[in-house]
Amino acid sequence: MAEEIQKFQVSIDGISVEVDAGTTILNAARQIGGDIVPPAMCYYSKLEGSGGKCRTCLVKVTKGSEKDPRPMPKLVASCRTTVMDGMEVQNITSPDVVDARKSVVEMLLINHPLDCPVCDQAGECKLQDLGYEHGSENTRYDFPRRTFERIDIGDKIQLHMNRCILCYRCVYVANQLTDTREHGILYRGDHAEISTYIENALDNDYIGNVIDVCPVGALTDKTFRFKNRVWFTKPVNAHRDCPSCSGKVTLWYKGADVLRVTARKDEYDEVEEFICNTCRFDKKETSDWTLEDPTKISQESVIASNHYTQFQPPAVIAENTPLKEANWEQLARTEKLK
Ligand code: SF4
Ligand code: FES
Repeated sequence: MAEEIQKFQVSIDGISVEVDAGTTILNAARQIGGDIVPPAMCYYSKLEGSGGKCRTCLVKVTKGSEKDPRPMPKLVASCRTTVMDGMEVQNITSPDVVDARKSVVEMLLINHPLDCPVCDQAGECKLQDLGYEHGSENTRYDFPRRTFERIDIGDKIQLHMNRCILCYRCVYVANQLTDTREHGILYRGDHAEISTYIENALDNDYIGNVIDVCPVGALTDKTFRFKNRVWFTKPVNAHRDCPSCSGKVTLWYKGADVLRVTARKDEYDEVEEFICNTCRFDKKETSDWTLEDPTKISQESVIASNHYTQFQPPAVIAENTPLKEANWEQLARTEKLK
């Protein structure tokens, strides 16, 4: 008989939820959803071992458990701390947490340049969002920032190390999704940097997923770089019969052109299913895909702004694709709603 999983009651910002023993505070918060979910720059639910690097997910445990109600002595990383029965946690209701998050953002921005106007990640960057929410107008840092040359790691991926926050997600992707990992974090402390072994190229199938998991603009898609701002593009879910991955993607349209292909992401900006390099880099024609629906974009996202009022299906696509008329009607309808 299957062993019964113990359930724990936990309260986060006054909202109670019952979760399996072993659940982290962050995942318990995700089960509640909404504003009380701590931000996560390094944790990624699909990558084993991720988390514990960036400290953006800090929370305050005001009651340890029913058995031992003492509060935890300092703020804890919610992605790495598991819940106890009767635990009480504060996130946005704690001024200490809000203050600490502000400090973490300040620290991440010590070296990360504020080059959002020219960065391809702008509009999809978690650090940009956190910067808006918690950032200070001025820096207190007097020393020179770390700067690096831009490196082409493979013909499709650009590494811009100045922007890297050393979250390790791309290293886990290479370790867990590809046959051989050819890059990693070299050196320690202030000298730490993402690099390939002797400037190797990252060309494993599935390595393109490092672009999707990178929370900032350190790893970008060279086939899309400087082509457009993401908020001027229209994301549409599509699929194809792919022999190596699920073939479920988001196509980012500008007019009738597919400017880039990415994996689909959930509400926490995590990839739903990792996709292969062929789907990502080599299938940029509408005729390669069966189009589904417009991708749901959160109202808060800058991608939802600007272009959701007067959408017209691109004539070229409509003529060339065996696309159901209903899809475009839905697309147009959804765009008007947003
Ligand atoms: S390159 Fe991106 S994904 Fe890799 S460690 Fe740096 S910030 Fe994280
Ligand atoms: S998300 Fe928890 S430490 Fe980075």
